[in-house]
Amino acid sequence: MAGSLAVVILAAGRSTRFKSTRSKLLHELSGRPMLEWALDAALALDPAQVVVVYGAHNAALCERYGGGYGKHQISFALQDPPLGTGHALMQAEAALQPGITELLVLPGDSPLIDGATLKALAAARSASGAEHAVLSATVDNPQGYGRILRSPGGNDRVALIVEEADATPEQRAVREINSGMYIFARSVFEQLRRTRDELGASAVKGEYYLTDVVRFGETVAVQAGDWRSISGVNDRSQLAWADGVLQQRLREGFMREGVTFVLPETSYIHGTVQIEADVEIGPYCLLLDHTRIGSGSVLGPGCCLESTVVGRDCQLMHVRALDAVLEDSVTAGPYVNLRPGTVLGKGVKVGNFVETKMADVGAGSKLPHLQYVGDATIGENCNIGAGTIFCNYDGVNKHHTVLGDGVFIGSNSSLQAPLNIGDGAYVAMASAITKDVPADALAVGRARQENKAGYAARLREKQREARAGKLRPGQSEPPAVEGEGEA
Ligand code: UD1
Ligand code: CA
Repeated sequence: MAGSLAVVILAAGRSTRFKSTRSKLLHELSGRPMLEWALDAALALDPAQVVVVYGAHNAALCERYGGGYGKHQISFALQDPPLGTGHALMQAEAALQPGITELLVLPGDSPLIDGATLKALAAARSASGAEHAVLSATVDNPQGYGRILRSPGGNDRVALIVEEADATPEQRAVREINSGMYIFARSVFEQLRRTRDELGASAVKGEYYLTDVVRFGETVAVQAGDWRSISGVNDRSQLAWADGVLQQRLREGFMREGVTFVLPETSYIHGTVQIEADVEIGPYCLLLDHTRIGSGSVLGPGCCLESTVVGRDCQLMHVRALDAVLEDSVTAGPYVNLRPGTVLGKGVKVGNFVETKMADVGAGSKLPHLQYVGDATIGENCNIGAGTIFCNYDGVNKHHTVLGDGVFIGSNSSLQAPLNIGDGAYVAMASAITKDVPADALAVGRARQENKAGYAARLREKQREARAGKLRPGQSEPPAVEGEGEA
């Protein structure tokens, strides 16, 4: 029935147990707002329209999704004040397009629901010929949920849904619970008006119950295959638990596609990450936001990659990267910090204790130990010695350094930007380079070494005398060496 179904997300409840100044539905699980997990599941039914019923306290939802969600427009309906789930759904009616004949109604705080379960609900409803369908589950502890009371005669029809607050002790003993997820015929709106006019609000809770429509419309109950998929998130503890379930699902999905995990439960992966087959994720990795990992790469232990693209056959250990691009066959780590704007060309090697930022490093170049590389373009096959610092900041402005191909920078050098070092140039170790270096030149930027013959031996002799108390008062140092000035 594609094209005639609307998804209605009920999101006007106050979420008091969550204790947040922000809308509960914008809190993230596995890198995405809670609402989006339920939305994604609902989109599996190819809806013609998506309506979000929101409250005065969470108008932030309109700001966030006013521009739509992916290619889907979102319509909003305000429920103010919130007078219960039945009242909430009624607010959606005016927003519905005329061609809509069915509604998939979901609570916004159910991030574990999945498309397959909702498709099964739709199929079971069609097969049953009933007007409405409710998704249920049988659980060990039904506390807090509405109970599904089946019609006598052992069929799949629902006689009543009773809220716990209104239930008799026998009804409370029922372990089949209402998920709060339904597919309704559009006739539900007439039935909601009947419940309002004939039954009024609940005496106990003072709310208009959506569940009361089953008194007027024939409803089939369909059990979810996995009870966890209908779980709601009411507090931070349930948030953490649901996130753990999503993580397990995400990892298992990747494993089915050929990704190896070592100690899988120690890694955390956002739902927006892409990993190709034959990648190995070692222990304690965080792969966040729009990170992508190419086939054959081995990560971990301890990599934290955020919005970073890793090519094929890379090897990363204890690497932290944000907004970086690593082409194929890069090796990095341990203890590397690749900051935004880092691009490492094919086969680049970045070693221990290296920090890069806005650094474009050409294929085959090596930064093996203890470097800071900021605001730099480095050509191909360069060798940057241990301890090299790209001095990019003068206290006011950032400046750029350009190295040609095949440049060799000796260890412990400082390169003061702005600076150009030509192809094949060689910088002697421990240089402070402040001027451009032409191609193929040798640059030496340090004082020349001088050896003072015998000085150390004389120094030792004086120290011995000092210890023995033989120095005259005031004389505490060895005599000056010729030509040295102040010693
Ligand atoms: C509801 C069901 C209960 C079911 C449970 C599943 C009713 C009467 N009861 O109970 O049978 O087992 O969900 O979690 O429907 N909402 C609004 N406006 C309101 C009230 C709620 O938009 O005025 C939204 C909430 O934001 C939430 C959803 O509706 O997304 C469910 O509301 P909630 O208060 O959690 O319902 P329960 O009392 O738990
Ligand atoms: Ca609830």
